[in-house]
Amino acid sequence: MATIDTPDIAADETLPVPGKKVFIKTFGCQMNVYDSERMAEAVSPLGYAETGVLEDADLVILNTCHIREKAAEKVYSDLGRIRQVKDERRLAGKDTVVTVAGCVAQAEGQEIIARAPAVDLVIGPQSYHRLPELLYRARSESRRIVETAFPEEDKFSRLPEARVARAATAFLTVQEGCDKFCTFCVVPYTRGVEYSRPVAELVAEARKLVAAGVREVTLLGQNVNAYHGDGDDGRPATLATLIRKLSEVEDLERIRYTTSHPRDMSDDLIRAHRDEAKLMPFLHLPVQSGSDRILAAMNRKHTADDYRRLVGKIRDARPDMALSTDIIVGFPSETDADFEATLALVAEMGFAQAFSFKYSPRPGTPAAKMDEQLPETVKSERLARLQELLDQSQARFNAGCIGKTLPVLFEKSGRHAGQLVGRSPYLQLVHATAEPAVLGHILPVEISAAGPNSLSGVIRAA
Ligand code: SAH
Ligand code: SF4
Ligand code: F3S
Repeated sequence: MATIDTPDIAADETLPVPGKKVFIKTFGCQMNVYDSERMAEAVSPLGYAETGVLEDADLVILNTCHIREKAAEKVYSDLGRIRQVKDERRLAGKDTVVTVAGCVAQAEGQEIIARAPAVDLVIGPQSYHRLPELLYRARSESRRIVETAFPEEDKFSRLPEARVARAATAFLTVQEGCDKFCTFCVVPYTRGVEYSRPVAELVAEARKLVAAGVREVTLLGQNVNAYHGDGDDGRPATLATLIRKLSEVEDLERIRYTTSHPRDMSDDLIRAHRDEAKLMPFLHLPVQSGSDRILAAMNRKHTADDYRRLVGKIRDARPDMALSTDIIVGFPSETDADFEATLALVAEMGFAQAFSFKYSPRPGTPAAKMDEQLPETVKSERLARLQELLDQSQARFNAGCIGKTLPVLFEKSGRHAGQLVGRSPYLQLVHATAEPAVLGHILPVEISAAGPNSLSGVIRAA
């Protein structure tokens, strides 16, 4: 039996306290979405059910993003509000444990404890398998804990095995971390070195998801096409090999992956886009800039022409490939001519979708120390011009779908009664009138209208 002097952690972890609630708010990229789901699964055996109501939560987890200043600062304004709620709950005799996870946790660690009095636990992305134990310690030792070491063991194999399927689509993290060190980016510091999960483990996780009703998985990694997990033969497997393996999973109907780096877009992976019917014709391939001088200063290790050639090769293999990208404007020393080169590339590529950002100097990154940081006004003007062009490009891509019949995987109810929403192979949202019974199924939809952000159409007999 456990004594007070030597608390039996295992017993406490396995003894659920019924009726407890956890509130999780997720910032940043899809990998955080995946991690948040895994954290929910990790605390579920302790008796925590998820809630969307902050005031009801005994455990609050903010899963944070450090990529741009705005994202990181948002966390502190949320923590201000959470402190109020915690105080109100305390007056009502209820405890609230506040946890900051994710990339701000990793980057700022102790500083969060200093700045935000409400926080009990700060936990970096590589330690989520230790969440139950750390929550226990924070509570039993009544102290605030910061856990941001990069542990030896990998969290994935130690997180609970049960995967809860929440919809017909699911994320599956296959690779984490980054060794590329683009000069503007915090990811190599917050997520650590590149690590890939073994093929067998991923196939097993995909099978579980499919058994629970998932029909589409999106393979995630900060550098997903650099994937090199152990294959069945014990040798490193490529992303293309993993995709071929996953294609064999019965009832898994669609496979996507994100985010890719142009440097790791191998011929093998391009061939998979030609040969694997389950691999969707959509590729998120960040280019960041159209200027070779800026690309070099960013340490991207590719030129604008490399990118053009690569896209040419991809479209030869898969002519209907929808291309998406990320672009940064206002990187240090970016001139009007550099920016024009970005606009020219965008005009040429016909992006189906894109994310564009004002450069945000991040602590500890080389670009933050570069001379010639640009004024906010220049960044804003450039961003507005770029976004106008990207919006046109997206609208053109969407309009090009009118009259076509596209297979749509229906995922959820729409805003209007009787309406469902799904996605085309090109990741476009598609609205159609349909029975709820078609949720989780792929049906042909004849596209009759296209807006800037979605399509709508009519279901045709299969
Ligand atoms: N691993 C991916 C992207 C990770 S971050 C890749 O290599 O492309 C997502 C996007 O955020 C990046 O593609 C970049 O466009 C943007 N981003 C990253 N750091 C930024 C910064 N300091 N300021 C503005 N945008 C940034
Ligand atoms: Fe960041 Fe570059 Fe790595 Fe992408 S490839 S995560 S932008 S350092
Ligand atoms: Fe943000 Fe970390 Fe993802 S910085 S974009 S949450 S890897």
